[in-house]
Amino acid sequence: MPELLDLHLADDGVATITLRHGKVNALCVALLNELRDAARSITSGEVAARAVVIGGGPKLFAAGADITEFASDPDPASFAVAGPERVREIGGAFLDALNAVAAIPVPTIASVSGFALGGGCELALACDLRIASSKARFGQPEILLGIIPGGGGTQRLARLVGPSVAKDLVFTGRQVSADEALRIGLVNEVVDPEQLDGRTAELASSLAAGAPNALRLAKAAIDGGLEMSLDEGLRHEQDRFVDVFATRDATVGVASFLESGPGHAAFGDIGPAI
Ligand code: COA
Repeated sequence: MPELLDLHLADDGVATITLRHGKVNALCVALLNELRDAARSITSGEVAARAVVIGGGPKLFAAGADITEFASDPDPASFAVAGPERVREIGGAFLDALNAVAAIPVPTIASVSGFALGGGCELALACDLRIASSKARFGQPEILLGIIPGGGGTQRLARLVGPSVAKDLVFTGRQVSADEALRIGLVNEVVDPEQLDGRTAELASSLAAGAPNALRLAKAAIDGGLEMSLDEGLRHEQDRFVDVFATRDATVGVASFLESGPGHAAFGDIGPAI
């Protein structure tokens, strides 16, 4: 049983992962390992989710890596930072956990109520969509510690907002407000703090009720294509386009349109996910 997060699957098919580690949800190696395992349990189908929400506490989504793990000797008189093996272990735990989140084949939403800094921002970046409270703040403050992001902050951030904005955030370590995050494309939506849970649940539930195979293939087409040249990506999309017609989603969705017009298809639980 995980101790530093909760994993709950609701009747509507929405799985919610809630970080609950101390005051600030510091992403220590133990929490990252639990996050990796939770994500893999969804990917394997052991937890049969059709959409996933990842959230933190009301004030802190997550304050990033557990900085106490960066010291091999925390005594100020003889202070020493962690050696390369330990740093690789910490970085590897980030890589495994956030890659496992990114690999979840169903839609994922980060629900960000407060600070999402460092690894917290990187966790939000590993999700498909981000909904933020107007009180949320994002940033990659590693440079202020004399280090650099190690959980995707130089890679997923640059792919999402472009290298120029990513360099601004990574070089300065400055925090951005929810409104600025929306303007630069770091989040999809900003809502009043009291509406965050309701809006996230509404979106997750509607995605969970959507065409499950088509959603998986849309995600695979976009994520897979980002690793390829445009030409390869377009062919990758064509293959997924052919794949989707072989699923019952296409049969149900197209028949529903022809019979009842747009937006009436009830996909329900229509067969195994591909
Ligand atoms: N790792 C370990 N401990 C952390 C932490 C982190 N990333 N972030 C905060 N803490 C600890 C603080 O040291 C403090 O501990 P204490 O109560 O024993 O003194 C406690 O959490 C609360 O932090 P505090 O700064 O007092 O709370 P705040 O509400 O004023 O600010 C933050 C919260 C998250 C904005 C602020 O703590 C912060 O900027 N943290 C560092 C974020 C960061 O640099 N992340 C990148 C890591 S690579």
